[in-house]
Order: sequence, then C-alpha cells, then structure tokens
Amino acid sequence: MDKNETYQLLAKQVESLIEGEHNPTGQLANAVALIHETMAFWWTGFYMVDGDALQLGVFQGPVACYTIKRGKGVCGTAWQENRTIVVPDVEQFPGHIACSSESRSEIVVPLHGSQGNVIAVLDIDSKEVATFDDIDARWLEEIARIITRHALPHL
Ligand code: SME
Repeated sequence: MDKNETYQLLAKQVESLIEGEHNPTGQLANAVALIHETMAFWWTGFYMVDGDALQLGVFQGPVACYTIKRGKGVCGTAWQENRTIVVPDVEQFPGHIACSSESRSEIVVPLHGSQGNVIAVLDIDSKEVATFDDIDARWLEEIARIITRHALPHL
C-alpha cells in the first residue's frame, strides 16, 4: 500500500473505532494508539486548549511537556495561526520545544470547535528528518475532523 492508501484505511479504522462511544478521553486515546501503531511514529498525541495555554492530553511515546503557551513552539504556533504546520527539520524551526531530544521532524494539526476555534492540536513527531509532507497533512486533517465529530462534538 502506498501512503495515501494506508491513510485512507487508517481514517476508516479511526472512525469505526470511536463512533458511537461517549467517552472522549477513551476515544482520543484509542485514536492516538491506532495512528501511532499504524504509522510507527515516534510520538503521537493531543494538546488540549485550556485558557491561554495548551495542556498535555493523551499520547503514545516518551514523556512530554505539560504546558505550551499560545504562540510558543510548533504546537502553540499552529494554534495561534490556526493552520497545520509541517516541520521537516525541528532544528530549523525557531522556538521549537524539544520534549524529546530524539525528535527530528514534526507535524501539528489543529482540531476545530463548532465556531471554527481551535480546541486542541494533534502533534506527531518522527525520529527522522522530513517524514511529513502534504499527503500526511491532508489525511491527518481529515482524521482530525473525524475525531472532532465523534469524540468532541460539544466543544
Ligand atoms: N515539539 C513541540 C512540543 C511538544 S512535543 O513534540 C511532544 C513544540 O515545539 O510545540
């Protein structure tokens, strides 16, 4: 399977795994586990918007920073600018927050509430440079919409 086909199947699997459940923490945790295992990423998780900062949510991978201010790091910048950010080389991203010294590339995808506001970000790290491209961005945005629809419909 090429990357598009892998993501297409993953998106369907995420939806069937979380639809019909009413346990947002469990749904987010299972979605993260499935994405992480399927794609063999280094770190996969959510940071949740809470006031003027992001707070660490459910994740798979090494331990991570608890709090990221709006506009800080890749996650806080994706939130502030309300857009997906692909970082081919974290050493070239000014202000990158190194939770793990082994991370080399990263993608951050915002999740949107009913008003179009950012309610969380999906953050994924890789141990290799240039892991993420437009295909990852497009499919992870689709998966983020599926997760929002089924796990966070009231935010
Ligand atoms: N690198 C992120 C911080 C979170 S960790 O990658 C899990 C950032 O710069 O926002």
